[in-house]
Amino acid sequence: MAEITTMTVMMTVMMTAMMAVFGVAGNAAASQKPNIIFFVADDLGWNDVGWHNPSMLTPNLNRYAAQGVILNSSYVQYFCSPSRNAFMTGYFPYHTGLQHGVILEGEPRYVPTNFTMLPKLLKTAGYATHMVGKWHLGMCNWKYTPTYRGFDSYFGYYNGAEDYYTHETKDGGYDLRNDTLVAKDPGQSHFDYLFTDHTLKVISEHDTSTPLYLYLPFHLCHNPLQVPKEYEQRYSHIHTQDRRTYCGMVTMMDESFGNITQALDSRGLLDNTLLVFTTDYCADPCLVSTERRSGDLRRQQLAVTRGQDHILGGRYPGCCLCLEQEFAAKEILRQRRDDARSRLVPYHTTPGRCGPRYKDYKLMTGSPGRFNDWYPLPRSQGEEDATHEEDAKPHWKPQLYNIRNDPEERHDLADTEPQTMKMMMDRLHKWMASGVPPQNTPIDPRGDPKNWGGVWTPGWC
Ligand SMILES: *[C@@H]1O[C@H](CO)[C@@H](O)[C@H](O)[C@H]1NC(C)=O
Ligand SMILES: *[C@@H]1O[C@H](CO)[C@@H](O)[C@H](O)[C@H]1NC(C)=O
Ligand SMILES: *[C@@H]1O[C@H](CO)[C@@H](O)[C@H](O)[C@H]1NC(C)=O
Ligand SMILES: *[C@@H]1O[C@H](CO)[C@@H](O)[C@H](O)[C@H]1NC(C)=O
Repeated sequence: MAEITTMTVMMTVMMTAMMAVFGVAGNAAASQKPNIIFFVADDLGWNDVGWHNPSMLTPNLNRYAAQGVILNSSYVQYFCSPSRNAFMTGYFPYHTGLQHGVILEGEPRYVPTNFTMLPKLLKTAGYATHMVGKWHLGMCNWKYTPTYRGFDSYFGYYNGAEDYYTHETKDGGYDLRNDTLVAKDPGQSHFDYLFTDHTLKVISEHDTSTPLYLYLPFHLCHNPLQVPKEYEQRYSHIHTQDRRTYCGMVTMMDESFGNITQALDSRGLLDNTLLVFTTDYCADPCLVSTERRSGDLRRQQLAVTRGQDHILGGRYPGCCLCLEQEFAAKEILRQRRDDARSRLVPYHTTPGRCGPRYKDYKLMTGSPGRFNDWYPLPRSQGEEDATHEEDAKPHWKPQLYNIRNDPEERHDLADTEPQTMKMMMDRLHKWMASGVPPQNTPIDPRGDPKNWGGVWTPGWC
């Protein structure tokens, strides 16, 4: 089946489930409402899963992918906060102000409270709602944090990344919460064990007469590259340390997925369940050259302002696997228009830098910046990977690709299909007219963990 058709079918499935959830399609008894399990890998590359790359050890995911629907032409937003914004609100980030990069540590930025998040709606529909993992949607005030936005329980961290063992962010500051309380971890366990164990506890304590919504955005496989040796050792044939560690991280994530699905299954919780596994973004292109972590075969899109990278639009035929979604589902329901189903509008601050998609076409405007290239897999036989230099040209013309025929975006159609080009530009301008300015604001020193006993703590905006 062609990709777009597959995606439409999946969207229909998703929409049916969502409509049931939102009470749009009648009022089924609570017991008939499907459980919703939503796994989010962090920065997982297209080629970092077993069914695209047999050298990756992901047996549990492979099994579900084989039984499920693989949406291989579904795109996610670029970077963590924009994608998670879409998962939680159903709105494109250019409608919430979160379209421009990730929320930085100490940046007083968040999903505005007038956007109701999915867990809150699911609670209204009778669900138990639990989250384990990374938030990254605002923490400068309690009202922006998970337990205030619809989650019955939360175990995880508010920022974007931290040390897997010390649970401290890059610039210092401890970040691990059990609901609203600081969760101590004197044993310094790897995050993935903590998250998996906590999820198993949530599952074992869940009252199965209530529908369950589990949102599981774990830390793996985001940098820093850290994994217990036993996972890394399964890739001992890979000589490049970073790639070996990264592959180990993927396998550890797969094991968590396996343990969690097994626990769900053993409680009968998979029988009436919408199970989604996706990634928020492709493998971190910043690591492609610096840490030689290149799981991706297709080039990526970044715009670079001096010393700082901004992703414009993951140029990615489905950053990953099983049931990928364009999580504009709510926006689609709201608009009830077909064209909303086939578009995705990742975009940047300036109107000149966008990556909208419509049906088979994808338009790219503005500089795609660094790493705008195709990356070979790192070699596994003792040779160093090739590194890639910036591919920066001073002037970029808008580019047009037919992603059904040319998913790798190698043949620019801008000159040969001027009418399509015009149609895409017209649509882009129409969509952008409904956008709001990005909320990006300077770092607020009041948020510094030094002011809060060394712990990232809400209360400074
Ligand atoms: C997606 O899957 C379809 C159906 O198996 C296949 O024809 C297509 O080539 C795949 N696309 C990509 C980008 O792998
Ligand atoms: C939330 O408020 C902003 C700013 O007033 C507005 O642009 C946006 O449409 C509102 N969103 C919703 C879902 O009400
Ligand atoms: C989190 O708190 C709950 C009770 O509030 C407790 O049962 C659980 O063990 C705690 N988990 C961790 C990992 O601290
Ligand atoms: C998965 O479960 C097995 C068996 O209990 C355990 O040994 C392993 O550590 C678990 N893996 C993770 C990532 O939690």
